[in-house]
Amino acid sequence: MIVVVGSLNADLVVTTERHPQPGETVRGGNLSVIPGGKSANQAVAASRLGGRVRLIGAVGDDANGDLLRTAAAAAGVDVAGVQVRPGTVTGTAVITVDAAGENTIVISPGANALVNADQIGARTFDGAAALVLCLEIPIDVVLTAARTAAAAGVTVVTNLSPYQRVPRELLTLTDVLLLNDHEAQHLVGATGATSTSELRDALAAHHIQRAIVTRGVDGCLVFDGPAPVVHVPTVQVTAVDTTGCGDAFTGALAFRLACGDTVVAAAQFATKVGAYAATKPGAQSSFPTAAELCQFLSGREPARQN
Ligand code: RIB
Ligand code: NA
Repeated sequence: MIVVVGSLNADLVVTTERHPQPGETVRGGNLSVIPGGKSANQAVAASRLGGRVRLIGAVGDDANGDLLRTAAAAAGVDVAGVQVRPGTVTGTAVITVDAAGENTIVISPGANALVNADQIGARTFDGAAALVLCLEIPIDVVLTAARTAAAAGVTVVTNLSPYQRVPRELLTLTDVLLLNDHEAQHLVGATGATSTSELRDALAAHHIQRAIVTRGVDGCLVFDGPAPVVHVPTVQVTAVDTTGCGDAFTGALAFRLACGDTVVAAAQFATKVGAYAATKPGAQSSFPTAAELCQFLSGREPARQN
């Protein structure tokens, strides 16, 4: 069982040839309103792949709240812990996607800001192997969840997104920290020029022993204490929409960690799920079942040896 504590957002998505500059107006395609939110996405990704998933969060008493709960439930997620907060607006993300599949996202937290530490109880982690966290809900709730899970021996997976400064305690309670290039730059000042060993030292200086740094088309780097750093190459795809790829990666990683995989094996699997998600529009709408993933991978040309 995987527990995901965090956010649900309605994604308001418009595709456009290119992103506007500040002050500029560009014409886009039709508006889609589709299920998103980092935590709901992570939960749906893990559930589609075959995991048992419990999602804890909050939505408003509006049509978007119904959409999000229904979509997660339809993907097999237990949504009993997603509370409806009367008089509040469901979280929203305003998203533009350009012709290269790259996005910009602005979130309006809405009901996500009202997720409460009281929603984490003694029974929350019954039967759980992993907890997945992100930073789209109040940090005190993230900390409470991490503390409670860690005390119950549950593996804590924290996605440091969207980046904000976090208490050191969260980093020490986290078993596997997930961050992308931007977040690594904010957290430890890493740039493209930072070597792998410098990055490992910088993470260790922040009390982080085990981390995965995702690097887009360069795949990801897995840091696991003193073990050699492992580079996991990505699967080359033509990106249609990269929205939710990080969440697909995170959900898939948690699914495989909960099955007992090593962090490297789980990262190799998660990389493939993230690549799959880039080939389809939207976030949750682009996540594969195990069978879809298998078909996608078996239909691919083997990598050419140069
Ligand atoms: O990571 C992608 C997600 O970020 C979107 O679904 C959006 O809702 C924001 O939370
Ligand atoms: Na996608």
